[in-house]
Amino acid sequence: MWDPDKYLAFDDLRARPFFDLVNRVGATRPRRVADLGCGPGNLTVTLGQWWPGAALEAFDSSPEMVAAAKEHGIDATVADVRDWLPAPDTDVVVTNAVLQWVPDHLALLPGWIEALPAGAWFALQVPGNFDAPSHLAIRELASSDRWNEKLGAAGILNREAVPDPAGYAAVLTGAGRRVDAWETTYLQPLSGPDPVLEWVTGTALRPVRDALDDADWQAYRAELAPILRVAYPEQPDGTTWLPFRRVFAVAHKND
Ligand SMILES: C[S@@+](CC[C@H](N)C(=O)[O-])C[C@H]1O[C@@H](n2cnc3c(N)ncnc32)[C@H](O)[C@@H]1O
Repeated sequence: MWDPDKYLAFDDLRARPFFDLVNRVGATRPRRVADLGCGPGNLTVTLGQWWPGAALEAFDSSPEMVAAAKEHGIDATVADVRDWLPAPDTDVVVTNAVLQWVPDHLALLPGWIEALPAGAWFALQVPGNFDAPSHLAIRELASSDRWNEKLGAAGILNREAVPDPAGYAAVLTGAGRRVDAWETTYLQPLSGPDPVLEWVTGTALRPVRDALDDADWQAYRAELAPILRVAYPEQPDGTTWLPFRRVFAVAHKND
C-alpha cells in the first residue's frame, strides 16, 4: 500500500529527476502523453502544462495513489504497467520511479517501443540506489534473526538491482531509434529528526510496512533509525546529506 502524503513529503526533491528526464524529450505537439505509474499525479499535471494540446493518459496500480491523482485533477485509472500497451496515437511515454518495482521490466520495453508510432518518445527513470547504505541497512536488518521470518517472504530480500544506463540502452536501441541514457547522483539535503528514515518510509520501506503489524513496524523502524543516523550523519548546520543515484533512459523513434 502506498501513502501519498508520505510520498509527497519530499515532493521537491522527488520532482527534480522527473523534470531532468522530461527535459530530454523533444516532442513538440504530441497527440497523447502516457504517464505509467503516475503516483499522486502532481507531476502528471506538469505534463499537461508542458504539452497542453495532448490527451493525458495516466494510471497506477495503487488505488490510494489514483485517488490522490484524481484530487490533482488527473483522470487516472487503476491498472498494472505489465498489462499496458500504447494506444496508436501515443507520442510520448513517461515512466518515472516506477519500473524498479516491476521485476523483469526490461522484457516489457521492446514490445512497447515496437508498438509506438514513428516519431514517438519513451522516457524512463529508476532509482539506482540498490547498494546505497540505506538499502543495505534495510535488507541486512530484514534478514536478521529477529526479522527474517516476518520479512523474508515480503520480497525485500530478493529484489534485484536495476540495470545501469548501458543496460537500458542495449534494450532500447534498434534500427531507426536514438537512445540517450545516463545516470545522476543527486546530493539531497534533508533536515529534521531521522530524515533518511522518513525518506525511505515513503518508498523503499513500503513492503516492510505492508508485512508488519503496527507494533512490529515501530520496532523495526526503531532498530533501523540509529543505523541510518550513523550512515548519514547530521552535519553541524543541521543538514543530513543523502546521495541518491538515479538512472535515466530516453528513446526516440525516427519520424
Ligand atoms: C515512487 S512512485 C512514483 C510515482 C510518480 N511516477 C512520480 O514520479 O511521482 C512509484 C509508483 O509506482 C506505482 N507502481 C508500482 N508498481 C506498479 C505496477 N506494476 N503498475 C503500475 N504502477 C505501479 C506505485 O503504485 C507508485 O505510485
